[in-house]
Amino acid sequence: MIEYRPLRVALLGAGSVGAQVADQLLTHRDELAARIGASIELAGVAVRSLDAKRDTDIPRELLTTDAESLILGADIVVEVMGGLEPARTLILQALTSGADVITANKALLATHGPELFEAAGQVGAQLYYEAAVGGAIPIIRPLRDSLAGDRVQRILGIVNGTTNFILDRMDAHGESMEEALATATALGYAEADPTADVGGYDAAQKAAILASLAFHTLVPADAVYREGITEVTLEQVVAARKAGYVVKLLAICEQLVDPATGQRGVSARVHPALIPLSHPLAAVHGANNAVFVEAEAAGSLMFYGAGAGGIQTASAVLGDVVSAARRHVVGGPGVAESTHADLPVLPISAVTTRYQIALQVADEPGVLAVIAALFQSHGVSVETVQQAVSVVDPAVDPARAGQALGAATLVIGTHEASEADLAATVAALSTSSVVHSVTSVLRVEGL
Ligand code: HSE
Repeated sequence: MIEYRPLRVALLGAGSVGAQVADQLLTHRDELAARIGASIELAGVAVRSLDAKRDTDIPRELLTTDAESLILGADIVVEVMGGLEPARTLILQALTSGADVITANKALLATHGPELFEAAGQVGAQLYYEAAVGGAIPIIRPLRDSLAGDRVQRILGIVNGTTNFILDRMDAHGESMEEALATATALGYAEADPTADVGGYDAAQKAAILASLAFHTLVPADAVYREGITEVTLEQVVAARKAGYVVKLLAICEQLVDPATGQRGVSARVHPALIPLSHPLAAVHGANNAVFVEAEAAGSLMFYGAGAGGIQTASAVLGDVVSAARRHVVGGPGVAESTHADLPVLPISAVTTRYQIALQVADEPGVLAVIAALFQSHGVSVETVQQAVSVVDPAVDPARAGQALGAATLVIGTHEASEADLAATVAALSTSSVVHSVTSVLRVEGL
């Protein structure tokens, strides 16, 4: 076999992922060379501080603070430094010089993806980003390559480990949102500022990447409808399990037709949702991630595993290094990002979904009829109704324990209806004289 020249890899960043990537490149050099047909030479590792403590021992002579010089002459540049700048500028420099680039930087892709793909396309370089969604889980390559001959219809993803961990603690251990967040922080899942995770921003960036790939359409992160988990209560989680559901923060990407305009487009959204306990996503516990893909020919597929972690994410990065290196050996132009469908990104009002709505109502004759009429007048069809009479809590008043309070809890499940009609129904319920309070409004997915 003719030996190809050694391929030079420049590594930008030596944090929890970068240190593991460096270690694997050095430790498994011979095995990687056998798989690629060329040896990989780690040309250097760009870091902010030469003396910082790292998760693995990187030979001192490989470390440099001069990322720009390191990129020059590299065949493959691996960006795992994070943040928007200088990552964006360095990646543009690398692509412009013809290097293939591997990045784990979902925020950068969600914000500057088109600019980066354009720069890659101009010189026939390739941008790989398997580690940007779902950590170790292979999902980008399946969407980009394995399913390229099929048509993806829908993606339901648990793509944020921190929020899945929090919701799972609430479900499995009865912790409140605050307690579960404190546990996540103590165990190192949640950042000191957890906003990106609990606010759904991290999941929205990943949803933008998945929707763009799945539907061959550019979906910017700010076009993704987003609700985080901060409003989810322990009461909702407990009631969900009793009713045969679990609450998950879902990233949902699908093609649909806007019922109001007849326009076909892409919807990408992130919000808490009830999913049936029988759905495979209900079994995703702790900080794990999973992406459930529904494709026309393949049917349902689920990709599951560790969504974060240094060595786990390094696995996805190394897979991209091997792909990029093989392309150098085999030759040929890179494949441009596929945005040929160029569908409009539809607003949340175009989505149809099912809801479960819990209400505190007066327990009097005619109340149910008033509520039924409200649903009817907004064109929302009721599927299920459960009523429980509210009684005095023995912990509050032992002497009157169990006595009727003249109020009832109604849990109403709807058939599929438009978000706009459901929002109008909830607004009308909130101001109805027979409704004391609307205590929970959750979408239902995965039925
Ligand atoms: N903060 C993310 C999570 C990991 O909790 O899943 C990085 O994307």
